Amino acid sequence: MPRDRERLAAREALARARRVVFFTGAGVSAESGLATFRDAGGLWEGVRPERVATPEAFAEDPAFVWRFYLARRAAAAATSPNPAHRAMAEYARSDHREVAVVTQNVDGLHQVAGSANVLELHGSLWRTRCEACGAVAEDRATSFSEVPPRCRCGGMLRPDIVWFGEALPPTVFQAASQAARRCEVCVVVGTSAVVYPAAGIPYEAARAGARILVVNAEETEHAREADWFLEGKAGEILPDFL
Ligand code: APR
Repeated sequence: MPRDRERLAAREALARARRVVFFTGAGVSAESGLATFRDAGGLWEGVRPERVATPEAFAEDPAFVWRFYLARRAAAAATSPNPAHRAMAEYARSDHREVAVVTQNVDGLHQVAGSANVLELHGSLWRTRCEACGAVAEDRATSFSEVPPRCRCGGMLRPDIVWFGEALPPTVFQAASQAARRCEVCVVVGTSAVVYPAAGIPYEAARAGARILVVNAEETEHAREADWFLEGKAGEILPDFL
């Protein structure tokens, strides 16, 4: 289908839709200056994920892991949402729609942009979890007097982020799956679609009858199977589109 007819069809579907899921990845925050993971110059070029994003890495060298996440906190604290984040938040506020933002991102920029119903599948940079008592707390520090930081119980605090080999938070994952099964349109934005089980969410939506629109800077597995694929930058495509 010629590109402009594809755009028109996707735009009409989103204008009509009452229930929508935005499934997002690091590409959404790229135009806010935050590195993605697998693009040129991405985070995983600078450090091997096994050294900073596994429970084994944390057990071996918690200070090294914390320095990686403190640097990511500092970068996220120094930036702000871009037009893509804002367009999704505004779309959700318009027309009494039921919108869920199901994100793999941990930077919190969707919430800063005003998105209300954000489901963080991979946790958040802005929370800690105690390895001993399990307490989860909001924490916006970009440096600590002691690294690794300690919980009131004396236990070691870790970032409340889902690392490779760990399960997704069950309640969040269930809510995301339910939103996917209920939506009429699932908009996949800025993700390489290679990390499961998160990347399965758009397929769950498609199996339940939803139309799939992918907005991404490069073609991905999701894009190859989508109803509509718009190649380009989310911050340039979404504002006009939504
Ligand atoms: N607009 C749209 N898409 C973009 C943009 C942009 N401005 N910039 C980059 N992209 C696309 C890239 O082409 C790529 O397909 O975003 C995607 C980013 O992919 P990844 O770096 O693999 O990030 P993501 O898909 O979010 O990674 C998934 O992997 O490392 C783990 O837990 C981490 O949540 C993360 C998960």
